[in-house]
Amino acid sequence: MKKIEETLKHLNDRINDFKPEIGIILGSGLGVFCDNLKGTSIKYSDIPNFPTAGILGHKGELLYSNVEGKNCAIMQGRFHYYEGNSMQDITFPIKVLKMAGIKTLIITNAAGGINKNFNVGDIMLINDHINFMGSNPLIGKNNEALGERFPDMSNVYDLNLRNKAKKCAKDLNINLKEGVYIATTGPSYETAAEIKAFSIMGADAVGMSSVPEAIVSNYLKIKTIGFSLITNHATGTSDSKLSHDEVLETGKKAGLKLSSLIKKVISEI
Ligand code: HPA
Repeated sequence: MKKIEETLKHLNDRINDFKPEIGIILGSGLGVFCDNLKGTSIKYSDIPNFPTAGILGHKGELLYSNVEGKNCAIMQGRFHYYEGNSMQDITFPIKVLKMAGIKTLIITNAAGGINKNFNVGDIMLINDHINFMGSNPLIGKNNEALGERFPDMSNVYDLNLRNKAKKCAKDLNINLKEGVYIATTGPSYETAAEIKAFSIMGADAVGMSSVPEAIVSNYLKIKTIGFSLITNHATGTSDSKLSHDEVLETGKKAGLKLSSLIKKVISEI
């Protein structure tokens, strides 16, 4: 709690009276969302208690900006478990944003498509997840002031928000897919056998993030919505090999579509 307050104080000193109501986490290659947005940008490396590890394709800045009439705190890039950060560290920013006042969190990521009906460049609305990371960010002593010891997980991706997103996609003529996101730790991509198993388990897309953030967001009673940008076919579901460059390239191409959808959803919140 002390750490959260210290970080919040530092941020508040930089942004004066700006009170964010919506938090946004931008995944690989989705930085395009911030093009033409004005506001105050703070480097993660300048924020006390934020983890320090970063990754190619992520800017590593927190941008405070008004989007579609709503005050937003936008994380341009996230922290990953595979970088060596702890589960608690990668979800620390969510706790800070909660204390800053956000009521809604929009999570995005790049993911491999498992569902055979998905194409590269599709957007999948996450309707549920499978935590296959072998850990949980809520492990450890619980702070009852933040949330319950055993949080319910029956509506992690808020149904109301999901319905809004579907309506917005329709308005924008976007063919929005929907499904279950499964998270692995990475950093290696999956084997074909793993993808086959994940498919049988009910997963539609696979990635290396988002689930820890969604768990903590749900725990903090922040209304949460998540989108996966399908950047590639998961291993074994097509002939091609996976590369991070391909993920970033597709992210850039289809990122614009996801950006417009998120902006529309924000305007309707
Ligand atoms: N697997 C895991 N993570 C990913 C993938 C994938 O195929 N694509 C983008 N992130």
